[in-house]
Parts: sequence; C-alpha cells; structure tokens
Amino acid sequence: MHEISNATKQRRTKRSERRAALHRLIEDDLISRVSDDEYRRKVKRVYGGPKGAMLAACSMVSLHIPLGERLFRTRKFDLAGVRSALDIGSGAGQIARHLLKYSDEGTEITCIDLSHQMLRRAKNRLKSDELDYVAADLANLPFADESFDCITCGYVLEHLPDPEPGLAEMARVLTKGGRALLLSTEDSFSGAWTSRLWCCRTFNRQELMQLCENVGLRCKQELWFTRMHKTFRAGGICVEIQKV
Ligand SMILES: C[S@@+](CC[C@H](N)C(=O)[O-])C[C@H]1O[C@@H](n2cnc3c(N)ncnc32)[C@H](O)[C@@H]1O
Repeated sequence: MHEISNATKQRRTKRSERRAALHRLIEDDLISRVSDDEYRRKVKRVYGGPKGAMLAACSMVSLHIPLGERLFRTRKFDLAGVRSALDIGSGAGQIARHLLKYSDEGTEITCIDLSHQMLRRAKNRLKSDELDYVAADLANLPFADESFDCITCGYVLEHLPDPEPGLAEMARVLTKGGRALLLSTEDSFSGAWTSRLWCCRTFNRQELMQLCENVGLRCKQELWFTRMHKTFRAGGICVEIQKV
C-alpha cells in the first residue's frame, strides 16, 4: 500500500493550517462575540434592511436558486410521500418555492423566519395561499413534537451563536424517520467571504455532522449540486439528515 511520508504529512498539515488562518482572517467573528439576543437583533436588522431586499436576487446571481431546485427536480432530495414540510429561515422563499413545485398535492407547507420583513417578502414573491407563514425562532419552534415529516433548512444554522439548540428543535419537531435537507456555509475560502457578507459563521463539515448526531439526527447522504461541485468539494455543506 502507498504510504504517505512524514514530510508529505507535515506539508499538508502546514498547508491546511495556513488556509485555516486565512479563512479566520476573512470570516466574520461577530457571532462569537455577542449574546444570543444581540445576535438575533442583528439578524433582524440585516435581513429587515436592504440586504434582505436583495436576498432573492443574490441567490439567483450566486446560482443557489437554480442549483437548489436541481436537488428537488432530480429527486436527490425526494419529496414524494411528504405530508407536512417545514421550511426554516425561509428568507425570500427560495426553498419554499421548490417545496411548492415538487411536493405532492396536499402536502402542508409551513414557512418560518425570525424576520417578519423576510416573511412578508416571501409571501409577496410566492403569491400562494397554500403556505402557512409563522414568525418564529429556530431555537424555539412553536410546534408540537413530531409535527413534520420533512424539514428544509437553508443557510440558517450559521446565524445561531450556538447551533445545537436549533438542531435539537429540528429533531424534536421531526417525526421518527423524518428527513431534513440541511444547507450551510462551509469553512472554505468562499464560505469565509459569505460569512463576512451576511454576518454569519461557517461550519466544519465533520463538526456539524457530529452536532447533528448529538441530537439524534444521522447523516443519510451528502449531496452535491452537480458532479463538478462533488469533484471540487464546492458549493458548501448540503446533506440529507434523518431522525433516528
Ligand atoms: C440566508 S437566508 C436563507 C434563505 C433561504 N432559506 C435560502 O436557502 O436561501 C437566512 C434566513 O434565516 C433567517 N434566520 C436567521 N436566524 C434565524 C433563526 N434563529 N430562526 C429563524 N430564522 C432565522 C433570516 O432572517 C433569513 O431570512
């Protein structure tokens, strides 16, 4: 078997340490300096203002809307049979629109967001009576245990100073065997810039999966938008998790 020499190992470790140092320089560390309440106020201010108004356009330019839709259209994340779906941190309704388009007729879809303004924007954009909109915090969901058999949570966890209570809430409201699509900003070069632009943190893939495991959510599959994203391990964290 091919053995990696100590010199190669050391070179790799040094390279990844240099990369991590660069990411730390770029990444916004606000989240580690403020209290939970301060951070929630900040989220509401950021998304309630002009940045929130540009969110849908930004998601289109960054290709997150068409790439996200691909996950549902190709059934990489399959909505067949889903009866009740919760979209957490709906923003401008980017993922909720895919839920509307690709879920079975009769699927109940609920959108939640911390920002009332973002919920209003999602409502205006989606123009559908089939969705319920609730202003709520991921870390304190106003739903009974096991209320949903499907959850989508796109780029929200990185806004929580401590993601574990949010993940625990997701596990609580999911039915046993229920599945969730989790998208999150990764600790990569582009992730560090995203963190600066949107005042959020980034996650290390393995650490995030461990946090999911801690609350009873197991990684079912890693998803990639396209083959190119898989080859270059690009596009951020995109996983299907399941309540065990
Ligand atoms: C980057 S946007 C994501 C929009 C959409 N889900 C997507 O995939 O593009 C993040 C959204 O999460 C919301 N958010 C942030 N923290 C939240 C929390 N603790 N609970 C609920 N929503 C939250 C923000 O208000 C914002 O609308």
